Amino acid sequence: MGKGFSTKVVHAGEGRSRPYGAVTMPIVQTSTYAFADTQEILDFVEEKEAGGRNLRGEYGRYGNPTQSAVEDKVAALEGGERALLFSSGMAAITSLLLAFLNRGDHVVVASSTYRQTHTFICDHLSRFGIESTFLADGEIDRLEDCVEPHTKLIFCEAPTNPYLRVIDLRRVSEIAKRHGILTAIDSTFATPVNLLPIELGIDLVIHSATKYLGGHNDLLAGIVVGSYPLLSQLETLRGILGCVASPHDAYALLRGLKTLAVRVQKQNETGQRIAAFLEAHPRVRIVHYPGLASHPDHAIAKRQMTGFGGVVSFEVDGDQAQTSCVIDHLQIPFIGPTLGGVEAIAQQQALFISRDPAKRAASGISDRLIRYAAGIEDAEDLIADLDQALNAIPPSQEASV
Ligand SMILES: Cc1ncc(COP(=O)(O)O)c(C=O)c1O
Repeated sequence: MGKGFSTKVVHAGEGRSRPYGAVTMPIVQTSTYAFADTQEILDFVEEKEAGGRNLRGEYGRYGNPTQSAVEDKVAALEGGERALLFSSGMAAITSLLLAFLNRGDHVVVASSTYRQTHTFICDHLSRFGIESTFLADGEIDRLEDCVEPHTKLIFCEAPTNPYLRVIDLRRVSEIAKRHGILTAIDSTFATPVNLLPIELGIDLVIHSATKYLGGHNDLLAGIVVGSYPLLSQLETLRGILGCVASPHDAYALLRGLKTLAVRVQKQNETGQRIAAFLEAHPRVRIVHYPGLASHPDHAIAKRQMTGFGGVVSFEVDGDQAQTSCVIDHLQIPFIGPTLGGVEAIAQQQALFISRDPAKRAASGISDRLIRYAAGIEDAEDLIADLDQALNAIPPSQEASV
């Protein structure tokens, strides 16, 4: 379409003509599609077998016009040929892994990932005879050494959760191309406003659209963007697994996407201001934000991203109970496990993992870590709120949950 990003978030993927001249894309609430006669069925099947992209529907598990509008818009935003919408981010990730890996294959996970992605690869792909090698963040120099003759996929995430590490995607894609390996990135924290992995040579881009793309904490969805041939393979599996987004969720996502550019630009600005404020605060030990010069991946983040997002992770100068005290004194954010919506949300992430301190320690996430996801509130208000919560920290009692 050759237009700017903000124009694309509003118009791309939707065409101009709508039933009744409606401005908005309708929610096509149907589970199946009727055919006029047998000839129409035969024409439809012929087109499908020829690999064409049939515009009429067949059955809701294979597609829906509201869903297709979202897919076409996100494909345009990411600069991919095609996108496929799923019922959640995890449905997108697990379907992708199942579609492109076979028994005896090997996957290299080149960065830390969302916890459930890690669990699926370790505990479930292994059941189907798929091997995996995990690299820690910052270990890209070891990536090529981890490639084996049966490596079929390099999977990564950027920025990561919760330490916001950013891997060099050009290097990942160069190594993968040298060995004929497919690459996939979970780009949920970045959004296409801040990072365009396909431009950097990555084959498949995944989002938990539950987060920034939807942006209003009111839906679950996931999306994968890539080339026609790769996504056709994935589409076949999605149609079998049945993990499609409902027309209502597709509509809510389409509506959320229209404001993606303005929301994320605001969240970028607020994230940067909160990170700078926290870095100077005496009750904060360390701030993890790729927009700060102190972040280990600042240089690569600056090179490959145009903004650093609204999530700031930081460690309180205190123990686990003192960190909980900060969370409990926050008055604006909700306390909960998500990010990317219009409402600020904060969490002491380790406490969602287990009540057992040993299990929390094994997760690698510090008890003192707060993941703070800015919404679109005024940055001044969020900062004043954080300040009063940090200043409310009582002396250490070494309490435990
Ligand atoms: C980076 C990342 N990827 C994937 C997911 C899973 O997405 P969903 O909750 O939509 O299944 C999450 C959820 O928190 C996430 O943070």
